Amino acid sequence: MKTDIESLWVFALLSKCRAFSQESITCLALIMGFSWLAMTLTYWSHSGGPAWGKFKWRKNINSFLKKSNTIPGPRGLPLIGSMNLMASLAHRRIAAMAEACHAKRLMAFSLGETRAIVTCNPEVAKEILNSSEFADRPVKESAYSLMFNRAIGFAPYGVYWRTLRRIAATHLFCPKQIKASESQRAVIAAQMVTKLRNQLPENLCVREVLKRASLNNMMCSVFGREYSLDSDQTNEEVEELRKLVDQGYELLGVLNWSDHLPWLADFDAQRIRFRCSQLVPKVNLFVSRILMEHRSQTAGKTRDFVDVLLSLQGPDKLSDSDMIAVLWEMIFRGTDTVAVLIEWILARMVLHPDVQSRVHDELDKVVGTSRAVADSDISKLVYLTAVVKEVLRLHPPGPLLSWARLAITDTTINGYHVPAGTTAFVNMWAISRDPEVWETPLEFIPQRFVTHEKEMEFSVFGSDLRLAPFGSGRRICPGKSLGLTTVTFWVACLLHEYEWLPSDENTVDLSEVLRLSCEMANPLMVKLRPRRLSPPQ
Ligand code: HEM
Repeated sequence: MKTDIESLWVFALLSKCRAFSQESITCLALIMGFSWLAMTLTYWSHSGGPAWGKFKWRKNINSFLKKSNTIPGPRGLPLIGSMNLMASLAHRRIAAMAEACHAKRLMAFSLGETRAIVTCNPEVAKEILNSSEFADRPVKESAYSLMFNRAIGFAPYGVYWRTLRRIAATHLFCPKQIKASESQRAVIAAQMVTKLRNQLPENLCVREVLKRASLNNMMCSVFGREYSLDSDQTNEEVEELRKLVDQGYELLGVLNWSDHLPWLADFDAQRIRFRCSQLVPKVNLFVSRILMEHRSQTAGKTRDFVDVLLSLQGPDKLSDSDMIAVLWEMIFRGTDTVAVLIEWILARMVLHPDVQSRVHDELDKVVGTSRAVADSDISKLVYLTAVVKEVLRLHPPGPLLSWARLAITDTTINGYHVPAGTTAFVNMWAISRDPEVWETPLEFIPQRFVTHEKEMEFSVFGSDLRLAPFGSGRRICPGKSLGLTTVTFWVACLLHEYEWLPSDENTVDLSEVLRLSCEMANPLMVKLRPRRLSPPQ
């Protein structure tokens, strides 16, 4: 497009030249217009749409014409390709399109000028996620504007990204650190129980409580800040951070057309660049304030992740702006995923009272009614663990694995040549609902994950791609153990204390909305019946 605009000077020059009449200039313009249209339609005619057609045409006309090694896929519309697939519930649209194109193993499609592939098959998903070629993330303008390219999730694959992962794995996500945050999880669980008790016997919406609890938990692990869930003590700092996280979440979740149609970039039609530029100084100010406080207090003590980052020396030492990016990402990633997953689990408990009753029986057997749940109980709660896995199967918080992958070099996937620069999606939602992979996939049956003696437990941590809600391979979620421990422990506490019942007015609605995570479109409304008379300890 740029080239077309640049070439306008040719017309200006021609109009000065007497040899060219008005008619011949119009004629030339028409010829150029038709040529452009013909090229656009030619690119579009290729399987997978215009981005694939353009790439193949420019590379080699023979490869354009050769149909044999072409990944099947929809053409979409000229110029924009299949952008419509990414609108609203992208995982569902993509799955339906792959089915229609008989391309569940591998489908090619175009998002404007972006060449994309997607798989709805566990073997091909393994090929993509575990290959060293797909260790990068595609560039996303909002992520770069919000500094996330200096944090783990969007940092380009290389030394810097490896250093960040090592630091986070050693100091935030290691088993010792997860154990150390046990008491903090228990305190927040008790606060949630009390907060809900204060609202009895009303119909209540749990989403806000879960989000605040999750945010407070991350604030404590990352910034060393301890806040109460009590609304009478609403803290300005938490409120401010909540707003910043919400805004960032929205900006990162929205489909930015100019990521895929570069000629739109100058217009910033969705005002994403503008809104990012408004948000970044506020985040900088917020996190810099906390960094400064830590610098003045630390005196060699390491209490939280900020202290860890400040204590790094030598090649690992990070600049202030890099620290801000890393810290913010942790708050950002750790907050919503956990709250979203717990809401889905509780919704399923309300919908399936028979399953809830089995969880209650297990809790009464393992924990009893005289004390609160402890972290050490979790490994004995086999049925509850199966419930969490079954919810992850039916409602993965990242149905397309949150963020796509980018091919660093040319590679072969499912026998097809995939060129460097191709974006790859894994449709985990489609895989975990596929009748060829799972028996009666649409039914909620936690029992399928209960293992019997000498059977291997099903791991959801990326080794079996039939269910890998945390991704797999080099870019697998580093917070998976922390996230799953928090979710399982809090759900155990909430179910131990209460029986979860449908609210008087609303039935449970499992409709989804896909932002950065896939959430319940209508927040869960419930009524609670206390199960233990004594307050939580
Ligand atoms: C239920 C909870 C969670 C779910 C379902 C989840 C899911 C995911 C998924 C699907 C990915 C992409 C993986 C891939 O590309 O293969 C990811 C990446 C990531 N997650 Fe999580 N996550 C959860 C909790 C957390 C927590 C608690 C944190 C941190 C506090 C976290 C931090 C990250 C980071 C930093 C990345 C980027 C990794 C990289 O690109 O190297 N996540 N997560």
